[in-house]
Amino acid sequence: MTLLSLNDLVLKIGKMNFQDQSLGFVPTMGALHEGHLAIIERAAKENDIAVVSIFVNPTQFNNPDDLVNYPRTLEEDLKLLSNLSNVFVFQPEVSEVYAHDILFEPMPLGHLASLMEGKYRPGHFDGVVHVVHNLFRLVQPTRAYFGKKDYQQLAIIRMLVKHYQFPIEIVACETWRSEVGLALSSRNKRLSPEGLEEALIIWKTLSFIKERKNTSSILDVKTDAISFFSSGSLSLEYLEFMNENTLLPAASWEEPVVCFIAAYCEGVRLIDNILV
Ligand code: PAJ
Repeated sequence: MTLLSLNDLVLKIGKMNFQDQSLGFVPTMGALHEGHLAIIERAAKENDIAVVSIFVNPTQFNNPDDLVNYPRTLEEDLKLLSNLSNVFVFQPEVSEVYAHDILFEPMPLGHLASLMEGKYRPGHFDGVVHVVHNLFRLVQPTRAYFGKKDYQQLAIIRMLVKHYQFPIEIVACETWRSEVGLALSSRNKRLSPEGLEEALIIWKTLSFIKERKNTSSILDVKTDAISFFSSGSLSLEYLEFMNENTLLPAASWEEPVVCFIAAYCEGVRLIDNILV
């Protein structure tokens, strides 16, 4: 792993011959965990070089406390990546990512702006689109890697590539979980041991839903699943069944259904989903 300044990275990319060489890009906000590592290793394996950005993007935090409290662990992040040979990391400044010469026109987000993450985190996806657009222009990847853990974000990124006509292949990566099922997340670093235990209710609920598929209607399964949160300390924000492809509400099991959950645990907002 090599840590580069943005200028050195741009010089390196400038010297690449994109006809013969591929660049896999993994944008992150740092506080890296095994889920990030798996994506970065995949990008490094499938491309001549992999580039990782570590940038806590202020424009996508609708909650100022969340931005202040977001874990920042650069030293540990670099240690985690230290054994990877063709991986280049950069950690840009806000002024570099939002430089005046990077032209950006906002993109309409359609129904994705008003459902689930769009509804409960107003402005969040506008910030994600802006930063990923700018990072794509700087890094010019062949492929870019995103996790299914942030499923709605992944759908937005697919829209972004189409909208701005970027010649970039989007690669979707499976969700990494702890041995007991908790989806790995940088925000888990803010949970106490008790919180980590309590948060398992999310995975238990998703597993229950998958088992109950086809045995009763989506509405009945939803009612039972929501009741899981009436005991325990988690506060459920939403639990939705959406069509995997359109991300519009799913009416029956005949559609490909993804179940999405967002809940607060010890004041930390957690999200997860499962293809039912
Ligand atoms: P961050 O939360 O750091 O996540 C970086 C990438 O890792 C995202 O594509 C996310 O979906 C993926 N990821 C996180 N946890 C995962 C897990 N348990 N399993 C699989 N993939 C996982 O998502 C962001 O940063 C930002 O919004 C970003 C795209 C970098 C824009 O600022």
